[in-house]
Amino acid sequence: MDIEKIRRDFPALQQYTWFQNGGVSLTPAPVAAEHIRRMEEILRRGPLHIVYPDEEYPRRQRTMDKLASFFGVEAAELALMRGVSEGFQTVIRGIEWQEGDEILISEDEEAALLLPALQLRDLHGVKVVKVPLLDDADQQVAAVEERLGARTKLLALSHVTTDLGFRLPVEKICRAASERGVLSFLDMAHSAGLYEMNLRDLGCDFAGLLSYKWMYSPYAAGLLYVRREKLEALRVHYAGGRAEARLDFVQDTYELHETAERFQYGPWSWPLVHAWAFAVEYLREIGQQAIWARTTALADQLKQGILHIAGAELYTPKSTECSAALVSFGLEGWGGEELSRVLREEQNMIIKAMPHGREGLRGSMAFFLHTSEIDQLITALAELAEQRRAS
Ligand SMILES: Cc1ncc(COP(=O)(O)O)c(C=O)c1O
Repeated sequence: MDIEKIRRDFPALQQYTWFQNGGVSLTPAPVAAEHIRRMEEILRRGPLHIVYPDEEYPRRQRTMDKLASFFGVEAAELALMRGVSEGFQTVIRGIEWQEGDEILISEDEEAALLLPALQLRDLHGVKVVKVPLLDDADQQVAAVEERLGARTKLLALSHVTTDLGFRLPVEKICRAASERGVLSFLDMAHSAGLYEMNLRDLGCDFAGLLSYKWMYSPYAAGLLYVRREKLEALRVHYAGGRAEARLDFVQDTYELHETAERFQYGPWSWPLVHAWAFAVEYLREIGQQAIWARTTALADQLKQGILHIAGAELYTPKSTECSAALVSFGLEGWGGEELSRVLREEQNMIIKAMPHGREGLRGSMAFFLHTSEIDQLITALAELAEQRRAS
């Protein structure tokens, strides 16, 4: 991987050290150029699907095919969404909930899953069961299995958890759910794009995908994956324009799409979606194996550094098997917000303070980072830890 060449695609890197790719990614210049090209085309030629439908609709199909092939699924299993939240809402609103039913989530879910789960609790009396995170794959599967009960209707987990960066053994977990007749949803925000992934093989029934983290595409587009066999397991709750295969405005009759498109409603920014598909090519050109190797090497470098700092605590599992591109940690005597501010002011680093739960920071290991930037972070943290201990 030619890091210097790749870094030239991310001009913003000249301004700071970027450890916040897990928030919103920087978009590489070729992907941004595709986005701009599509916007300019609309400026020059007008709304393409109206003026040149024979050109634009096949292009949309190619875009969806490209995204589908990247995730190892069929385009007919994908519904366009704005992000993970919308995909998850579509799933939970599509299920018939009774009071006392259970939804199983992890103890480290982002608002995209946690808030809808809490709202289910408040609206329908659904019990929210949280599984603890363990840095041993077998124990993690067992912890989930113990909590899959007769009333569990849906298992909804982040593949990689948002703050602590645990990567869950989702193949085994989804299989366990499926064997018990429990539906499964995976939030792929922090895994999609990091390595070659086949959603069918992961075994989930549904998955939420987004453009703007590890797929290095503009903010924000999303997809809901619905396994072909589970299309009928979800009721269409948000029927609206784009869900229909046929709509008779005179007879007041309609038929929904027979594909996951039935869950789509309302418009999207197609230039954004086209740019996302373009990013697939960008990532493939760099090589998904190379991206994963680089990401895990950088994560490992930071973890090793943290483990050697007196007063520092690594929150993310040490093993690559149980983690991905996020590395979270705390520093004795420091609040996360304060630490993030000092690193910004003194080191010109952008890094996320963990918003809840444990105090500390979440570093995002984007493949374009220099190993020297990780070293610089480790050195800065060691000095800050020492400062507090001395005072
Ligand atoms: C685990 C996880 N899921 C989802 C999201 C975002 O969801 P949405 O696409 O709805 O903004 C984030 C972060 O922004 C996240 O960390």
